[in-house]
Amino acid sequence: MSERVRIFDTTLRDGEQSPGISLDAGEKLEIAEQLARLGVDIIEAGFPVASEGDFEAVTAIAKAVHGPVICGLSRTQLHDVDRCWDAVRHAARARIHVFISTSPSHMEHMLKMTPAQVINETRSGVGRAREHTEDVEFSPQDATRTPLDFMIEVLVAAVDAGATTLNIPDTVGYGIPWDFGALIQYVRKHVPGDYVLSTHCHNDLGLATANSLAGVQAGARQVEVCVNGLGERAGNAALEEVVMALKIRPDQFPGLETGVNTGELARTSRLVSRLTGYPVQYNKAVVGRNAFAHESGIHQHGVLAERTTYEIIDAADVGQTGRQIVLGKHSGRHAFADTLAKMGLTIQGDALNAAFVRFKELADRKVDITDADLEAIVAEELGTSVAPEFTLEALEVSGGTVGVPRARVVLARAGEKLESSSEGDGMIDATCKAIRAATGVDGTLTDFNVSSVTGGVDALGDVIIQLDAGGVKVSGRGVSTDVVEASARAYVNAVNKVLRVRARSDQRAAEVGP
Ligand code: KIV
Ligand code: ZN
Repeated sequence: MSERVRIFDTTLRDGEQSPGISLDAGEKLEIAEQLARLGVDIIEAGFPVASEGDFEAVTAIAKAVHGPVICGLSRTQLHDVDRCWDAVRHAARARIHVFISTSPSHMEHMLKMTPAQVINETRSGVGRAREHTEDVEFSPQDATRTPLDFMIEVLVAAVDAGATTLNIPDTVGYGIPWDFGALIQYVRKHVPGDYVLSTHCHNDLGLATANSLAGVQAGARQVEVCVNGLGERAGNAALEEVVMALKIRPDQFPGLETGVNTGELARTSRLVSRLTGYPVQYNKAVVGRNAFAHESGIHQHGVLAERTTYEIIDAADVGQTGRQIVLGKHSGRHAFADTLAKMGLTIQGDALNAAFVRFKELADRKVDITDADLEAIVAEELGTSVAPEFTLEALEVSGGTVGVPRARVVLARAGEKLESSSEGDGMIDATCKAIRAATGVDGTLTDFNVSSVTGGVDALGDVIIQLDAGGVKVSGRGVSTDVVEASARAYVNAVNKVLRVRARSDQRAAEVGP
């Protein structure tokens, strides 16, 4: 009989705390649906008391996503706990995750509480959560810098008040595998009761995955992770790394298994990267584009003779096949929609029409269309559940080594055409300026990243930008075989997000009143 290691995904909560990431409710829902398809056990959907947007997103996910437990984060304050429950209660299985800091540094400088007060808060927060649901998780924040005796006292109080999962966060990524493993063992030995022990490791020393695995070896049966290792600062343990380590080394983790459908890992990684605007580093374990690339002749020779000579993971096992779809420029709308459905992409109405137009354009320019290409254009059209305010209708640029680079853009907004031209330092700069003039949305480009979706000279260029528009920070993404066009699409995408964020805060201000 095998024993389950529960995969607790916190991409939508801790992952969203990565600098510069801001997902709207539609994007969060899309990621949550893919996480359910991936087979994670628990989705931490957000921190409902943190903002109205977070509350709405957690509520939407609790209502719509089936399969995993839907969890919300909460401080110990009773109002926080109640607010968290209001959001997650719609789920078939709902969890409240209560946390409070326990290290001397956090208690003194942040909480300004004595150890006795922290124990009381733990009891009251966990107790209140338990009035709402039988599934309550508790975390002593900054556990790895908390004196052992005090941490045990807090954990015993949490179990006493009804916690069913005890999560041990290495909040600042201070742990080293063997001492983190020893910590997990210590908790198991000194905290009596019926609970699941969990790890939550940050990556400040690049050890988050190693520490999580040491925790599992020491008895943890839940691991908190983020897709692509996203999260505060250097991020959290990467879901794909932990899952594949458990799968590839059963000799080290005998009798343990996860419920993850590993064939969905690559697609999940791409989706999260696309919606968060965080590129995946090329040599990222498991999901990086080079994870299965062999450069040296000796390695290539070995892999051609027998894959396992230089590969411990079969690319197909993690969905990294770059499968070529059987669609071409003569394919019809029906075949297109059918192929998307087989890939698990649900897209309808205007978004389907727009994606089909993009597909046809791409098929004219590119011979080999892969799953990744198709996902990229569909995601750009799908992007969010809300119709975009501006769409790019036409782009004309001139530039090179002689003369001033110029761009002319035509955008559409509610049936109206808006045209603008500009000069710039280069064709991309001129294009962004022209879009700024046409939309009236001013902003500073704080980051610009271009990569190719697949290989080859006709590859789709994938542009990710970060835009700061008067304090509203958003990411934008665009794909095209032409990098200037991809940049224009990314810029228009970011402008649409800025307008959505502004509209939401105006609406909230109107609700609250003067
Ligand atoms: O890193 C941390 O301590 C956290 C807790 C809220 C679990 O994210
Ligand atoms: Zn964390």
